[in-house]
Amino acid sequence: MDKSSLTRSIMEKDARLLSPSIRIPFFPFVVRTGRGATLMDVEGREFIDFLSFGAISNVGHNHPAVVAAIKEQAETLIHCNPAYAFNERVTELTEELVGITPGAGGKRVAYGLSGGDANDGAIKAARAYTGRQKIIAFLRSYHGNTYGALSVSAVSLPMRYRFGPGVPEVYHVPYPDCYRCPLGHRDNQACQMACYQYFLGLFETLFAPDEVAAVIMEPIQGDAGIIIPPQAYMQKLYDFCRENGILFVAEEVQSGMGRTGRWFGSEHFGLEPDILIIGKALASGLPLSALVARDDIFAAWSSPGHVFSTSCNPICCAAALATIKVIRSEGLLEKTAAMGDYIKERLNHLAARYEEIGQVRGLGFMIGVDLVKDRDSKERARELAAKIVWRCYELGLYLTFFSGSVLRICPPLVITPEELERGLTILETAIDDAVSGRVPDSVLDTVKGW
Ligand SMILES: Cc1ncc(COP(=O)(O)O)c(C=O)c1O
Repeated sequence: MDKSSLTRSIMEKDARLLSPSIRIPFFPFVVRTGRGATLMDVEGREFIDFLSFGAISNVGHNHPAVVAAIKEQAETLIHCNPAYAFNERVTELTEELVGITPGAGGKRVAYGLSGGDANDGAIKAARAYTGRQKIIAFLRSYHGNTYGALSVSAVSLPMRYRFGPGVPEVYHVPYPDCYRCPLGHRDNQACQMACYQYFLGLFETLFAPDEVAAVIMEPIQGDAGIIIPPQAYMQKLYDFCRENGILFVAEEVQSGMGRTGRWFGSEHFGLEPDILIIGKALASGLPLSALVARDDIFAAWSSPGHVFSTSCNPICCAAALATIKVIRSEGLLEKTAAMGDYIKERLNHLAARYEEIGQVRGLGFMIGVDLVKDRDSKERARELAAKIVWRCYELGLYLTFFSGSVLRICPPLVITPEELERGLTILETAIDDAVSGRVPDSVLDTVKGW
């Protein structure tokens, strides 16, 4: 079978056999190998990675230290059910997580397998601890696909359509998005933080603060298109939670593990969350999630409140320990902060050339390029986004978009300056090709995005 027939055959079988619910259609990209910030498909084509499979491969694909840790652990012990026995890898990782998360000592960790189950855990722990039921979450947030996580999510209609009823007593409020204000304000100063007033309004009309267990918030809203809330909003919200015994849950599944140039996104706002949720990059792609919370919160949560037979599997824990070590030893936090600023500078130069770039925003390597039909209306330029990512794919850059119009610049933190330069040059060419009408409409049948 020639190489392109192999791609076609895999795509055809996949379309026939897999549930469409697990995929977001972008490209016929059948991945075979990865190393650092490079992926290779089954046809032998190389791609610079600007996705990290969705903020997962933070230390790059198949980092030798992570591979070695996985191999060594696999030869020692593959599994140990945490409900029944102890394992040193679990303890070592727990010590690390307690150390790298915001807030002084007196913390504990609970493990799971996915960002979704960790969100469920935060809901359960907050309810158990406070004895309250209500949870406040944000419109346009993505928290995962277990029922609890789905119930606090509100990223797009297809994710929830016909799945109701979800977990009860969840209330959504607008996320503070100053570029596309959900409350229609055009002037960030004159709005007087209308989104915070909206939040406060819940307590005048629907319920009292002492009925609320937790606010669950992504400190940087990821799949909504990289939205960075104003510091003043975060401080007010956090203070309100503190004053009213409401737990502040930082949902850091996407913004954690160095992605923003700090270990966790909440650090940019100087916040110490009551519960912090980690997933995705924690074990470099092996299934592992963690909830980190104060001692007293977890003390209210009895066994088997969050037991999963394969959670904190020693191999996943070994991979997580190696991931943390690599982030530290390769100075990836500092590198990501500095290189992230450079990427934004380059993209802002492009924004000066192309009216179609409405805004460039982000922290570290969590950057969005918001494409608009015109800068005044800010109408989302979905087709343009699809054409740009397609052209990138043709030219050897693996890039996607989300929230209808936002190019997602999310490379592995280990990307080299040369790879980054090549990726940005391809992106520049792709934008020019798409804006100038050199990418055919037919690609829109393939690239659907989300
Ligand atoms: C912020 C955030 N939370 C939770 C999740 C869900 O994680 P998982 O797919 O591991 O359940 C995601 C996944 O994209 C995410 O971006």
